[in-house]
Amino acid sequence: MRLNQLVDKGTDNPPNQLFEVADFINQMQVYEGAMYEISTKLEILDTEFQVMFEHDPIHHMERRLKSVDSIMEKLERRGLPKTIEAIRNNLFDVAGIRVICNYRDDVYSVSNYLSAQSDIQVLRVKDYIRNPKQNGYRSLHVIYAVPVFLSTGAHYTPVEVQFRTIAMDYWASLEHALRYKSDIDDDKLTEHEQTLLDCARSLQNVETQMQSIHRDINGAPQGVDA
Ligand code: GTP
Ligand code: MG
Repeated sequence: MRLNQLVDKGTDNPPNQLFEVADFINQMQVYEGAMYEISTKLEILDTEFQVMFEHDPIHHMERRLKSVDSIMEKLERRGLPKTIEAIRNNLFDVAGIRVICNYRDDVYSVSNYLSAQSDIQVLRVKDYIRNPKQNGYRSLHVIYAVPVFLSTGAHYTPVEVQFRTIAMDYWASLEHALRYKSDIDDDKLTEHEQTLLDCARSLQNVETQMQSIHRDINGAPQGVDA
């Protein structure tokens, strides 16, 4: 139903701001295809690790396609025209996968093995684990371009993958909930933000200690440089 809103029947908008519903649906199917390609690759890596090293690096995965409303909101926020072209050229997180790993070593092994695969390209890396955000946020963000084969040939399509540990995910969920809480006064918000920063540091310490026990029991990590 919502897609109907994409067809702007009014005359206020210039022609380049009109969406063709069919083209938009096709484009979203390409994003969905790219998302499945990457998640299948991740599942294969996880299974291989299980067989070779008797260890499951991936705890679980979450996938989502950006909603039409969020796509529109982001185009507007960035002052971009509401065209499929603008989406293709500027929004790299329409297809998104969150990979929640057991340990920090797993984050780097899984992401390194995926990045090394010859049929996909790494478009951008943001390592908020080595360089956490000021609020305490940690995760490794990689944007991949993956070929989706249609009748017209290969269409390289971006997929944003957020790799993080269970602890990082636990933290990010609460921080996200706090960020979208509008009925909270400023003092309380500052206090919670400070507490969350302390929690981020504590979780990082716990993670380092548990990682160390895990390495001791299971040997050196696979595919990790550090
Ligand atoms: P946007 O995609 O417009 O947000 O900007 P960007 O391209 O600079 O994105 P970045 O790679 O920094 O972050 C993208 C996504 O990571 C967000 O949509 C969130 O899902 C997640 N993220 C980034 N920073 C935070 C944070 O401080 N807290 C939480 N909970 N999530 C974050
Ligand atoms: Mg985003």
